[in-house]
Amino acid sequence: MAYSSHDILGFDYIQKYVGNARHTTYYYCGLYGFEIAGYMGPETGVRDRVSYLLKQNELLLAVTAPIVPDHAIHTFLSKHGDGVREITFKVKDVYEAHRYALEHGAENFRDPAREKDSHGTFIRGSLKIYGDTILTLTDRSNYTGLIPGYQPYEGVQVTRQHTNLLRIDHIVGNVETGKMDYWASWFEDKLDLETFVHFDKGDISTQYSALVSKVVRSKNTAVRLPINEPAEGLKKSQIEEYLDVNYGPGVQHIAIETDDILHSIAAMRDNGVEFIPTPSSYYDVIQERAAGIPESLTELERLSILMDKDERGYLLQLFTQPVGDRPTLFYEIIQRRGCDGFGQNNFQALFEAIEREQAKRGNL
Ligand code: FE2
Repeated sequence: MAYSSHDILGFDYIQKYVGNARHTTYYYCGLYGFEIAGYMGPETGVRDRVSYLLKQNELLLAVTAPIVPDHAIHTFLSKHGDGVREITFKVKDVYEAHRYALEHGAENFRDPAREKDSHGTFIRGSLKIYGDTILTLTDRSNYTGLIPGYQPYEGVQVTRQHTNLLRIDHIVGNVETGKMDYWASWFEDKLDLETFVHFDKGDISTQYSALVSKVVRSKNTAVRLPINEPAEGLKKSQIEEYLDVNYGPGVQHIAIETDDILHSIAAMRDNGVEFIPTPSSYYDVIQERAAGIPESLTELERLSILMDKDERGYLLQLFTQPVGDRPTLFYEIIQRRGCDGFGQNNFQALFEAIEREQAKRGNL
């Protein structure tokens, strides 16, 4: 049957390349509440790298580090530092979707293949997308395990408080000036996604920096991918800073859904996660916007949670500080109550806060 983006079933796993997989694992377990669900490395017959598979509800995060010299992963790391190498969509038919993408001009990274083990058959194939990121299409409909190649982890779990993080809501890419339209069209042409919203110059700007953004999604809304590019500002835009220190485009943030953001943020703060500070003036500004929501504004302010709404409902969200050594990848924690926006009205408040951090690094 012919492929369409209605065949995209949702996000699957994320793979990060890191300098030290064991240490990164402790970070995500201790602070974000993941558990170690699988391991591969020399003990399981893999000689060139170590990878831990971290799980929390529907979230699957693979953290992978090379353990031999001259490994291809070193090339990624020496350029970008720790970062997202692979994002994945679950699809109905990997072969059909991959063939459709190549027929429409996508660059192949890995041909679709069946991987069989005692849990069944896992199918995946990959395409190249922005920067050194790959997009993998998976079919786990005949697979009862997590990801092939990982063995059960027998060591000590280091999870602290559970944080109730459920699943990926959206994944955001930063691309070079002039490339946002290219990548939005890429997802439309190669994978039949559609452009859903477009934030133009003037929508999202501060005195110092600006960005433009387009959001593409599958026609069944199972996956959403905002794409940012820098816009001309008086000083260096935060997207430009990302592109400079990441040495090119890549994944900027991953938004993770929770159904109890007050608990999630309180637990994460307790565990030691640092979030972007929200100016206290923000809660005066949103008083009217937040009228009638069940969450108390005092609680939201105590935890610095942001709120936005549209005609359909509202959302609560908060952004972490960058998680690595460079100001590149960060996370967003989001709870939706009807609203399917991205917190556009918070961009202004957020950017002002981000720019204060950028100024501290001397990059503004
Ligand atoms: Fe976001």
